[in-house]
Amino acid sequence: MCGIIGYVGQQPAVPIVLEGLSQLLYRGYDSAGVSGLISPGVLRIVKQVLPDGQFDDFKAKVEDSRFPESCTNAIGHTRWATHGGRTVLNAHPHCDGSGQIAVVHNGMLENWRELKAELIGLGCRIVSETDTELIAHLFALKLQETKGDIRQAILSTVSSLQGANGILLQYARYPDLLIGIRKGSPLSYAKLDDGAFMVASTGDPFLPYTRRCKHLRDGDIIIIQGGKVEEFSFHNGRRIPVSIPSVELEGSAEDVALEGYPHFMLKEIMTQPERLPDVLGGRLRLETGLVKLGGLEASSLALKKLKRAKHFWFIGCGTSYHAAQIVARMFRQHLHVHAEAKQASEVTLDDILSGCSPGRSVVFALSQSGETKDLLDAIEYLRARGVGLVAGIVNVVGSSLVTLTDGAGVYLRVGPEIGVASTKAFSSQVLVGAMITVWLAQQRGQLSPDQSIPFVRAIAEIPEQLRVVLAQSEAIRKLAEYIMKFTSLMMLGRGYHYATALEGHLKVVEVSNMACEVQPAGEMKHGPLALVTDGYPVVMVATRDSSRTAILHNISELQARGAFVIGITTDGDTEMAKIVNQAIYIPDTPPELATILAATSLQLLAYHLGLLNERNVDKPRNLAKAVTVK
Ligand code: F6R
Repeated sequence: MCGIIGYVGQQPAVPIVLEGLSQLLYRGYDSAGVSGLISPGVLRIVKQVLPDGQFDDFKAKVEDSRFPESCTNAIGHTRWATHGGRTVLNAHPHCDGSGQIAVVHNGMLENWRELKAELIGLGCRIVSETDTELIAHLFALKLQETKGDIRQAILSTVSSLQGANGILLQYARYPDLLIGIRKGSPLSYAKLDDGAFMVASTGDPFLPYTRRCKHLRDGDIIIIQGGKVEEFSFHNGRRIPVSIPSVELEGSAEDVALEGYPHFMLKEIMTQPERLPDVLGGRLRLETGLVKLGGLEASSLALKKLKRAKHFWFIGCGTSYHAAQIVARMFRQHLHVHAEAKQASEVTLDDILSGCSPGRSVVFALSQSGETKDLLDAIEYLRARGVGLVAGIVNVVGSSLVTLTDGAGVYLRVGPEIGVASTKAFSSQVLVGAMITVWLAQQRGQLSPDQSIPFVRAIAEIPEQLRVVLAQSEAIRKLAEYIMKFTSLMMLGRGYHYATALEGHLKVVEVSNMACEVQPAGEMKHGPLALVTDGYPVVMVATRDSSRTAILHNISELQARGAFVIGITTDGDTEMAKIVNQAIYIPDTPPELATILAATSLQLLAYHLGLLNERNVDKPRNLAKAVTVK
């Protein structure tokens, strides 16, 4: 949420920052801005509101502003508005009163009210409605107090900031200076081959230049000056030198490019057959049925806790929560344990450990970004209540979530997800969840590898089976055209597929902005059936499983009222295919894995509905990826 980037080196900085910003747009696209240091003491700032998330006009405006080639220090920002509306005045970068200090920021100052009052009291003229501007004024005051001592001023500034924040700061007096702060929100930096530095809220913008980077840990601060970087950490107002580990960047420059696809959402849906094998790679032994998950086996303490645990909590937000529901159900079905899913934003409001032994409870936190604030808060809340183990199911390596786990977890390894609507991350979360289920059943002696062979092979077949679903994209587009005759639709499923329906519903709402009712199919007759009129589109996840007979009844009940039922059916179930008004086919697989195939067909439906409704499918209205605010 909000993308920040900076460059300082020998090359013209603004084009590099612009290129990086275009890759960070998915983190927020209300407005964008850059600040370039055009001569000692002088910053030039260009910013603009982005209509419908479109970046091109802004890019042209920056190019027209003719930053000199000698401008080798620049910072940039793409904004997801939190404090103050989507206006140019509120767009970052923000400056202090002298215009010497420019700040870009990701996060939220929790004490902004008190800080604002204090700064106004000290004579600062605040011009925007943002909390970010306060940081620039505060740093300027601290510089005065410390007689220009940058290090003391930055420590003193940071100690006055509350909340989760990632900050990048320029000070025009020093053309070779950039300061980065990670206090709750992500920030990474890379040293390029020519000695230049890049800083950004994720490592992806570094990929065209380098494969190595450093992810700042919470409390880390970097001061880049004179071609060198000083790394330190902040403790009770004291500066402690640290050494931030260097890591290999995941993914490649191709991952963050469209590669011929019109949208990232379509690319990320369509390339799943090629990406999902990486999720499975080396983890399944098809001949013996053995599952190996290094990230859960490495720590003997974590392994012991997993084997002894009585309660399992799967927490996440949005799409990750829907995957969590499916994985929790798999645990109940295969491990016969108490396993529940919970929206992370609700965890701190509900005593979910009531009646459980906290020490014998395990939390699995699911997240694509690993930066979702509600999730991080939920982990801290549960940890404070003595939960035995926190493990992660996460895509982004080095994300905040990873640092909050007990060194236990499984990476998704599905590559960067750029489309704001999560697609391949959902599929990989469910796949990883299925592998963890079998792995733990084997570890706990509930399933021998031999007995696991059919399920393990079913997991391994999913990437290829997805091709059958993806090949129906054109047929699904035609169904979307039919749905366009109505202002809303309904989505239903039972058992595992209630979560599938929830996920399909979320995709349709966020990408196409169409109203969509979602219910467990059996609940439909307790109210939502009132929506059905002649021809009304109802998507029913109707695969071959134990709910099939009940689903057949529900379809008759809907059709008796005139509904047009689009069934997601199992290939070969000719009876079901005949009964529904229109069928989408998915290959046969156990219901827990059928969620992936069925949800993918709904991702395609949402994509086509988004296009037909003339929506920006990669940047849905009002949303952004990596929700780092509460
Ligand atoms: C929906 C979507 C969101 C995210 C949610 C959690 O398409 O992308 O609902 O799933 O914001 O994000 P992560 O998985 O990064 O924690």
